[in-house]
Amino acid sequence: MTVSTPMHQLITSVNHWWHSIPVAPGVITPGHKTPEILAKELQNVPLHLVQGKTVLDIGAWDGFFSFAAEAAGASRVVSLDHYVWGKDFGTGDEGRASPYWEAEWPGKIGYNVARALRGSRIESVTADFMAMDPASIGTFDVVFFFGVLYHMRHPLLSL
Ligand SMILES: C[S@@+](CC[C@H](N)C(=O)[O-])C[C@H]1O[C@@H](n2cnc3c(N)ncnc32)[C@H](O)[C@@H]1O
Repeated sequence: MTVSTPMHQLITSVNHWWHSIPVAPGVITPGHKTPEILAKELQNVPLHLVQGKTVLDIGAWDGFFSFAAEAAGASRVVSLDHYVWGKDFGTGDEGRASPYWEAEWPGKIGYNVARALRGSRIESVTADFMAMDPASIGTFDVVFFFGVLYHMRHPLLSL
């Protein structure tokens, strides 16, 4: 028998998860990036260095690394994304009826659901960082830029 709790209904209302995010004890979102892949990637992130620091996570998608920074004690975490948050991955009626659905940013529903289920306080900015005025977002102690550089038409300019 499959048990369908409100939490599981929320998770399945998201058609496409990029990240496998722990949202409750024993509950992990079914991400394209598996827990094993993410654990391996995290080995290259010195998370202890973000304790007490402000963190900007550029290209956050579902927010796995933003949540990891928050859990590691960052004083403030801002997740920034644009392209995938604007994509509609085909979430069905249930997803569209969800309070976490943003009509203009349908691809952000996973981030919103994970944030709510984790009781997280991380903030988000929806913007193309290549087109925005950097001064508008302020400065951060640490900037995550994971899996973004190789998407850039002008990689050096993006740095
Ligand atoms: C391959 S995903 C990496 C997601 C996550 N950082 C990770 O490592 O699993 C690249 C992300 O960068 C975002 N991105 C690409 N160009 C961007 C831009 N100009 N401004 C903001 N986000 C951008 C995409 O929307 C996408 O979420």
